Amino acid sequence: MRKECFRLLLPLALASLTLSSLAQSPRPQATLTVAPQYQMTVRTQKTIAPVQKAMYGVFFEDINFGADGGLYAELVKNRSFEFNNALVGWLPFGDVSVRSDNPCFDRNPHYVRINYVKQLTRSGLQNEGFRGIGLKQGEAYNFRMFARTAAQGNQRILVELVNSANDIVGSANITVAGSEWKEVTASLTARTTDAHCVLRVTLTAPGQVDLDHISLFPAKTFNNRSNGLRADMAQALADLNPGVFRFPGGCIVEGNNLATRYQWKNSIGPVENRPINENRWFYTFKYKLTPDYYQSYGLGFYEYFLLCEDLGAEPLPVLHVGLSCQYENKDPNENVPLDQLDPYIQDVIDLIEFANGPVTSVWGSKRAEMGHPEPFNLKMVAIGNEQWGELYTDRLALFVAKVRKAYPKILIVGGSGPSSDGKDFDFLWPKMKELKVDLVDEHYYKNPEWFFSNARRYDSYDRKGPKVFAGEYASHHASRANNFEAALSEAAFMTGLERNADVVHLATYAPLFAHKDAWQWRPDLIWVDNLQVVKSINYYVQQLYMHNKGSHVLSLTMNNEPVAGQDRLYASSVLESATNEVIVKLVNASEQVKSVQLNFDGLDKAQKSGTMTTLSASSMTAENTFEAPYFVVPQTTGFTFEGGSYVLQARPNTFYVLRFTRK
Ligand code: AHR
Repeated sequence: MRKECFRLLLPLALASLTLSSLAQSPRPQATLTVAPQYQMTVRTQKTIAPVQKAMYGVFFEDINFGADGGLYAELVKNRSFEFNNALVGWLPFGDVSVRSDNPCFDRNPHYVRINYVKQLTRSGLQNEGFRGIGLKQGEAYNFRMFARTAAQGNQRILVELVNSANDIVGSANITVAGSEWKEVTASLTARTTDAHCVLRVTLTAPGQVDLDHISLFPAKTFNNRSNGLRADMAQALADLNPGVFRFPGGCIVEGNNLATRYQWKNSIGPVENRPINENRWFYTFKYKLTPDYYQSYGLGFYEYFLLCEDLGAEPLPVLHVGLSCQYENKDPNENVPLDQLDPYIQDVIDLIEFANGPVTSVWGSKRAEMGHPEPFNLKMVAIGNEQWGELYTDRLALFVAKVRKAYPKILIVGGSGPSSDGKDFDFLWPKMKELKVDLVDEHYYKNPEWFFSNARRYDSYDRKGPKVFAGEYASHHASRANNFEAALSEAAFMTGLERNADVVHLATYAPLFAHKDAWQWRPDLIWVDNLQVVKSINYYVQQLYMHNKGSHVLSLTMNNEPVAGQDRLYASSVLESATNEVIVKLVNASEQVKSVQLNFDGLDKAQKSGTMTTLSASSMTAENTFEAPYFVVPQTTGFTFEGGSYVLQARPNTFYVLRFTRK
């Protein structure tokens, strides 16, 4: 009896030894002899639903220095002398005054007068940039300003790049001639790399000069555009391959009151004359105070559309619905009365014309003047961000009626409030159906367990109503870190988005960027300082989904059920019809190795080979940091199988993407 028992237990003990040692090291999987614990079936010949081309994308908001001080490559803070007391970001020395008489730009009227008198050794001002100016050794920088003399004769201006040790690391001389405003430019090359430089502008001889719009851009911007974007940050977006780009917010659309809402019409035309706006994120949310936070609108709607075109992503602008942020502002005067909504509705209609209208139309001609006569091919607009209640639906109804009438083919995205459930959500979804919006924007910032346990969230959604846009979501660990646990839970949850691609049409993680010295919110997809970009582990999850999106959902089941958390396993499958590839995504969120047999129904028995990409980490709290930016990144190897099935020894807490050609 004892012998029998021993005989039975020994193979099990050996098997578990092999399994646990596999968890530690990548031993050849062929050594495992036990039968697979899990049988999953992928029906490779039967597509269930198309996956939208735009399915996975990004949500951009000017939060955490996302635009000014971030993606927008301008290095000078408050270049127009308009923000707050006009000299925010500037340190004047000698005799400097702020004036607005006979200005260069009517919508940005302030400028500085620099006066040099003999008693002073120098007069001028220096700009601190956005928590410093990041310069790279050997790289060129384009300096530009508007200037006029305010005294007899030509004036000589010295422009200097100064590093954090107070050494001059680049300079240029500029002559200002004539009493009319003129644009003057210079190119400077940095002799050193330093994240915390300043820009100094000095009048070097007795005289008087007026200066405005003092600007410094890296010569190298994304796609070498003028008024362009920080190349490394935009490249990080391009590397994702996003299908949709939601902008410009978020709460920033609403503003803290009606006066500070985002007004897209102020964000187009010559940059020098775009009126600035305060940034709704200037004050502390939960973390830090950034009282110097404003929006230059240098990165405006034209630039957003251009970026979408460069990225190959569908633009999804969010527009104001006539309500200020309902969290922040309870003043009923900040809600536009229903009979005064027309200008707000007109903003939506005009935006569609700006994006798509012929060059002969009022707004289409403005797009053409800015350099893009071809339409941007805008297909959808979102109206309202995180609004709720009848205040929202009463207003949205008027927008829907008028926008539909003007542009019946444009898709309209409505909202479901700030949370994934609860009273407001339950009120809004049926209302969105009544209003017949095309998509409903859902937001959820929840803990990792919520994400793990919500992989079936969309299984029971009504297939006949509006489609889902998961417009803002992120797994919020108690530490609010971009750690592996948060990323893994998103990977698991997203198998549910993919399985339900017939009803979930768009999904965008939030927020996108954060500057390590000036953030208000975390976690975020991409962290930056003035020189470096750090892609979070969450970024790599998004990237794996975007690069392996496929064109059609395939059925993947275990015991005829979707794989959505049984024994902490999650899986989904898609076909990429253009290349005839089958793609399987599988998350093992348990602490054990799971032996999973993937049976590819409908596949011939010949040998197949493909790629297997894994994302795993040494601990659930692992993060990519500025010191170790590539601590956790996906690893890709090859794999082969034959006979129509493959046994995957799924390691603990690992996200897998398998990809192979069907024939
Ligand atoms: O993503 C940050 C903020 O979260 C957005 O501005 C808002 O829509 C949400 O509450």
